[in-house]
Amino acid sequence: MKIEFVGHAAEAGPKAAVGVFVHEPATLTGPAAALDAVSGGVLKRAIDGGRFTGGKGQTLDIVAPHNIDAARLLLIGAGPAGSPTAEAVELAAAQAYQAAKTSGAEVLLLKLAGASADLAASAAFGVRLAAYRFDRYRTTEKAEKKPSVKKLRLEVDDPKAATKAFKRLAGLADAVILARDLVSEPANILYPEEFARRVKALTSLGLEVEILGEKEMKKLGMGALLGVGQGSVRDSQLAIIQWKGAKDPAAPPVAFVGKGVCFDTGGISLKPADGMEEMITDMGGAAAVTGAMYALASRKARVNAVGILGLVENMPDANAQRPGDVVTTMSGQTIEVINTDAEGRLVLADAIWYCQDRFKPKFIIDLATLTGAIVVALGKDLGGLFSNNDELSDRLLAASKASGDALWRLPLPPQYESQIDSAVADMKNVGGRPGGSITAALFIQRFIKDTPWAHLDIAATAWKPNSKVATIPSGATGFGVRLLDRLVADHYED
Ligand code: BES
Ligand code: MN
Ligand code: ZN
Repeated sequence: MKIEFVGHAAEAGPKAAVGVFVHEPATLTGPAAALDAVSGGVLKRAIDGGRFTGGKGQTLDIVAPHNIDAARLLLIGAGPAGSPTAEAVELAAAQAYQAAKTSGAEVLLLKLAGASADLAASAAFGVRLAAYRFDRYRTTEKAEKKPSVKKLRLEVDDPKAATKAFKRLAGLADAVILARDLVSEPANILYPEEFARRVKALTSLGLEVEILGEKEMKKLGMGALLGVGQGSVRDSQLAIIQWKGAKDPAAPPVAFVGKGVCFDTGGISLKPADGMEEMITDMGGAAAVTGAMYALASRKARVNAVGILGLVENMPDANAQRPGDVVTTMSGQTIEVINTDAEGRLVLADAIWYCQDRFKPKFIIDLATLTGAIVVALGKDLGGLFSNNDELSDRLLAASKASGDALWRLPLPPQYESQIDSAVADMKNVGGRPGGSITAALFIQRFIKDTPWAHLDIAATAWKPNSKVATIPSGATGFGVRLLDRLVADHYED
């Protein structure tokens, strides 16, 4: 998607859809009023003759009259008049794109005269996110099935200022798109070493990247992470990404840890065939952390940040770990592996310990597609938040509201600890069906010393086969990237 900000009276052309925002109740103001005037009142006539009221989410597509240099006009519902928020503009612009996407129009021209540079940037941001499509492996798709809109033009008062305002948001959009691409990529292409290679390529942004292989992790005693990857022919990897943007390069960093199970068959505790292909998304936590680190680097955030990715593939094999195996973690604690499909917590146990031990971070937030039970608990639109720290938790909830990556806090009740006690080891890796997401979080908490910590269970939100949100096309969502970027921007920069 080509995006450009242009001044007044921008050319539209015969292959253009021209969009204007209309407020509720169908009041034509600003660019909409101007367009209505030059087009002889067709906007008003279209509104009067139909149900379009300017409500949020509504669009009305009409043929452009002969004296307008465009193929069609698009009325975009912007909700009640007043000062629009960045989120509302982002969403309305995304809806405009969705309405024009396959209309045959090649250019979408949004008329935003009177809007601030920041709001114009938000509109462009919304369209960037809405236009995401993972089509790398589609070689025979006919042109008429592909989106027709290839260019976005935003008509604004001050193109220079809007271009500048968009720069920061463009970096964030790239970060979300990076995470979506990683999640969408199939597991025969994106295995741990390939993931690590893609992370390594981000050094061009100023990120420092180290990769540990199995030999190094063995030396560190990461028996839990290595046990998960043991049945795979692919080498397990630990990626360590650092961004040093604070005044003091030695100041304690904020830290993010991501579950990066490139494919989760369940291992010897094999998953059923139905829907197993969705387990290519089981590295959604690692993708979100990668995206967040990209976002921080792209806007040169004044913070020190660390991202740790535990990258493995969980396969059944003659060499795979068995139910009943006992593994020793880097922390020294031992785990009885009851179910090899509860592998994410095993990966996180070692990745989190490593992070804490080496970096002594300000806080740790781990992100993981951890449990199917989180879908049962919270449904499909909320990530589960677990935390040992109310301040961090409240800040995350505020960032969640502001970014649109919705979270809901769940408890860490000590009375459920006994569900993961083991008779032969320090703990076992499953706690039974009741409170499955909670016992998973309690398990992870056993690898936190006294660091403020939050665990985000994103099994429901990393992948949306049927998205209803215009900025999030169906498929990989990039959930977590905007959330973490926002959290850092609001509280942790100097
Ligand atoms: N990767 C899955 C969780 C998952 C389920 C992610 C659905 C995305 C969509 C995880 O490794 C898993 O298999 N969890 C088990 C845990 C159980 C064995 C205690 C689960 O949720 O069934
Ligand atoms: Mn699993
Ligand atoms: Zn998994």
